[in-house]
Amino acid sequence: MRLDFALLVFSFAFFRYNKPEMAKQTFFITTPIYYVNDAPHLGHAYTTIAADALARFWRARGADVFFLTGTDEHGAKVARSAHERSVEPQVFVDQVAGQYERAWATLGITYDRFIRTTEPEHITYVQAQFLRLKKDNYLYEGDYGGLYCVGCEEYKNEAELVDGKCAIHQTAVEKVQERIWFFKLSVFQKQIISAIEKDELKILPLKRKNEALQFIKAGLKDIPFTRTKVNWGIPLPWDKSQTVYVWVDALFNYLSAHEAGWPADVQLLGKDILRFHAVIWPALLLALGKALPKKLFVHGYFTVDGKKMSKTTGNTVDPAALSKKWGNDALRYFLLREFPLGSDGDFSEEKLAQRYNADLANGLGNLLSRVVAIAKQTNLPTKPTIKVSCAGADQAIEQLNFSGALDELWQLVTVANQAIEKEKLWELKTTDGERKTHLKQALRSLCNQLNTIATSLAPLMPTTSAQIIEQLKTGKAAPLFPRR
Ligand code: MSP
Repeated sequence: MRLDFALLVFSFAFFRYNKPEMAKQTFFITTPIYYVNDAPHLGHAYTTIAADALARFWRARGADVFFLTGTDEHGAKVARSAHERSVEPQVFVDQVAGQYERAWATLGITYDRFIRTTEPEHITYVQAQFLRLKKDNYLYEGDYGGLYCVGCEEYKNEAELVDGKCAIHQTAVEKVQERIWFFKLSVFQKQIISAIEKDELKILPLKRKNEALQFIKAGLKDIPFTRTKVNWGIPLPWDKSQTVYVWVDALFNYLSAHEAGWPADVQLLGKDILRFHAVIWPALLLALGKALPKKLFVHGYFTVDGKKMSKTTGNTVDPAALSKKWGNDALRYFLLREFPLGSDGDFSEEKLAQRYNADLANGLGNLLSRVVAIAKQTNLPTKPTIKVSCAGADQAIEQLNFSGALDELWQLVTVANQAIEKEKLWELKTTDGERKTHLKQALRSLCNQLNTIATSLAPLMPTTSAQIIEQLKTGKAAPLFPRR
C-alpha cells in the first residue's frame, strides 16, 4: 500500500518535472495548384482566400501552419497557350506564375510556400517517385487508345461527350493512340473505398464523399501515367521520349513541396477535380506507402450568370481589380458570406455592392463609428474590459463553414445596432447621474461585443479586425467602409 503510494507520488513528480515540452500543433493546408495557361481569375482567388482564412485561423490558435499553394506549369494546355502567344513555354510560365504571385500579394494571401512544377527540385522528386513505382511493379507498358480533352487535361469516354465535344469546354476532343506506361489503379479499389468509408480519408461535404464512392465502386481501370507527344513535361527517367501525365506531375506537388509535413490536414479543391484527388491521389500515395491526407474539402463553382467562370467561357472576373475597387476585406466578406463553401454561387458586382452597403457600411462600419462617436461625445472609454471571441463563429470556421461564422457574427452586429437605436443611446444626457451609469454600462457592453466580433473576424477579414481593435483601444474614429 505504502509502496504503491510512494510510486504514485514518484510518478506524479516524474511527470511533473520531466514532462516533455508539448509539441506545437501543426496544420498543413493546400490549395490545388493552378494552371498557368492564363491569368488568375476570381474562381482561383476563391479557393485561395478560403485556404488563407483557415490558415490564419489556425495560426491565431498557435498552430505551426504550413499553407501551400502554387502553379501547375506543364502539359499540352499550357504549351498550347505559350505557342498561341509565340512565346517559349518557360518564358510564358514565368510570366503567368508571376501574375499569380502578384495577385496573391495584392489579395494579402499568407501562403508559406508557392510551388511551381517547373522547379528542378520538383522535377527530380517526380522522377525518383516514378522509378520507385516502376521498381515496385505498379507501372507497366501498354497501348492506349482513347479520347483526350486538352482543356481538362483529362482522358474522356464517349458517354461523357456532348455532340462529340467536351461537355465542359465545348471543344473537340483529341484521339490518342500511343504506347505508354499504365499505373495499376485497379488494385487499390478496395483500399480506397475502405479509407473513404471509414473517414480515414475524410471527404466533405457528404455529397462529395458519396459521389466519390459511387464512382470508385463502379470499378477502377488502370490508367495512362505517361504521354508520348507532349514535350512540355517531366521526362520519364528511363525513356526520355515520354513525359509524365500532367495530372500526376501536379499531384506530386503536395509531397515535393513539404514532404516533412505530410499528411495534409486539409486539402481544398473545387468539385471539378474531385476524381483526381479522391481516386488517383490516394492510389498513388498507397502505392508509395505514404499516408493519405486527413481531409479533402470540396467546394462549388463560382458562376457568372449561371455559367462556370472560366477562360474558355470568356466570363472571367479579375480579383485584383475587384480588390482595388472594393478592398480586400470586402471581397473576402462577399466570397465567404454569399453562399456556403460547399455549394455553387453566382457572382455579380451588383450583389457585392449590395452586401458592401448593407452589411459592411450600414452594418459593421456604422456600429463601430456610432460606438466610438458616442464615447467621444460623452467622454467615456471604448477600451474593452473582457476579451473573448465568439465560440459559435470560431467553431464554424474550424469546420470551414465561413458563411455560417459570418452569419453568426452579423447577428451580433444587428443586435448591437438595434440596441443603440432602441435606447437612442446618442441622445442620453450625461449630466443625469442615473442615465450616465446606464450609458456607461451600455457602452461597455457594446465595446466588448465589438471586440468579440473583431477577434473572431480576424481570419476572415484581417484588416477590418485590426482596425476595430485599434479604434476601440485609442477611441479614435476612422470610417471602416465608406458608403458607395
Ligand atoms: N492544375 C489543376 C489542379 C492540379 S492540383 C494537383 C487545375 N487547375 S485550375 O487552374 O483549373 O484550377 C482548379 C481549381 O481552381 C479548382 O479546383 C477550384 O479550386 C478553382 N476554380 C477554378 N475555377 C473556379 C470557379 N469558377 N469557381 C470556383 N473555383 C474555381 O485544375
